Amino acid sequence: MGLFTNNMKRLLTSLSLLLLVLSVSAQSLSTLSDETKRIREEFQDRKFGIFLHWGIYSMLADGEWVMHNRHLDRDEYAKLAGGFYPAQFDAREWTKLFKEAGAQYVTFTSRHHDGFSMWATKASPYNIVEATPYGKDVVGMLAEACREQGLKLHFYYSHMDWQRTDYPTGICKNCPHDPATTNWDSYYAFMNRQLTELLTNYGPIGAIWFDGMWDHKEKEFDWRLEEQYALIKRLQPTCLIGNNHHGSPIGLEDFQLFEQDLPGQNTAGFNGEEVISQLPLETCMTMNNTWGYSITDKNYKSGDELIRKLVTAAGLNANFLLNIGPRPDGKLPDQAVERLKQIGEFMKVNGSTIYETRGGCVPPQDWGVTTQKGKDLFIHILNKVEDGQLFLPLTERKLSKVSMFSDGTPLKFKREKEGYRIFLPKQPETTDCILKATLK
Ligand code: GLC
Repeated sequence: MGLFTNNMKRLLTSLSLLLLVLSVSAQSLSTLSDETKRIREEFQDRKFGIFLHWGIYSMLADGEWVMHNRHLDRDEYAKLAGGFYPAQFDAREWTKLFKEAGAQYVTFTSRHHDGFSMWATKASPYNIVEATPYGKDVVGMLAEACREQGLKLHFYYSHMDWQRTDYPTGICKNCPHDPATTNWDSYYAFMNRQLTELLTNYGPIGAIWFDGMWDHKEKEFDWRLEEQYALIKRLQPTCLIGNNHHGSPIGLEDFQLFEQDLPGQNTAGFNGEEVISQLPLETCMTMNNTWGYSITDKNYKSGDELIRKLVTAAGLNANFLLNIGPRPDGKLPDQAVERLKQIGEFMKVNGSTIYETRGGCVPPQDWGVTTQKGKDLFIHILNKVEDGQLFLPLTERKLSKVSMFSDGTPLKFKREKEGYRIFLPKQPETTDCILKATLK
């Protein structure tokens, strides 16, 4: 994504979200129904999801912002659909791979900012079934394949639209829009009609993941979120709502999103406004630097690095949503497949220290993080420790036992004033050296 875009979004975020936060207060946690608590907990238990950015933009192989970044004419861009034929797309192959990687849910771009819908929507002919020679309902195929694998399906849905003439363009400078055709009521009705389809025709949906609201910062602009969120809850009471508005959660939102950074970090500049809330947290991250497929972006994080991010997210009490930008032929990039396999090997052995855990009672340290499930405290050593000794700042609880998670070898430890000192057999050399401690 271009520098311009990043700066633009940063600017937007600050003002628009501040206003929204002031106008719509987040639902108080104490008034939540048992059902809402349950679905939020289940979401937190899943810990690891796969994000998919796939649309006709993949044909230009330069990310999902290509239409905007290259100032493409919207009518010319739309003609890409006429050539979209992902001959090698196999939803089952994808979901099998995700499952084997240890993922528990999939978040799919049902419609991105370019306005192209990846399902058989009746709200516009600009969709995968009507506008492409492929003619198949990708969302439907994915929904079925996810169901078979026991993966929850979440839908990414863009509030912003670069294609429709009724969308009231905000700060997006490169988006061709004619004030004469702008019609917010019509666009709002269109979105709600689409959301109704997504929540009616594809079985139980785990979450709707909104994006693009930062296109409007003016205080008089009203996205009418309350009504839209209520519609979602009415159609599927167990569908969670998240919104990538780069700010603290508002209204009926069920989880808080962080883009490209773990909660509390802000290296990409999107999370400056976010105060970490009591809601379930989710960090989404690219494997390379691009969400949609890019033929030039080979800047992939290593498998080890991604595993450490996932583990650190869990230690920070957050889910990790790892992105893949499938190719236009329907295949996943080879680099992504390799990394998924490596993550899968790790999760097969160590998944029980991640799934269903929460951030541990020992906050993140220089050496790594902790996760916790009941009395089990999992100590994830991600960095070098001094002298083979690991200090665990813990005074509120007592430890009764510490062992290597890999083979159960008991470890010596001693109580000190400020916590526990654990003696490691040797300098940990693995991606994540895990100890299991039992809390009294
Ligand atoms: C940004 C981008 C978008 C991407 C999303 C994923 O908001 O605009 O292209 O889908 O981040 O987090």
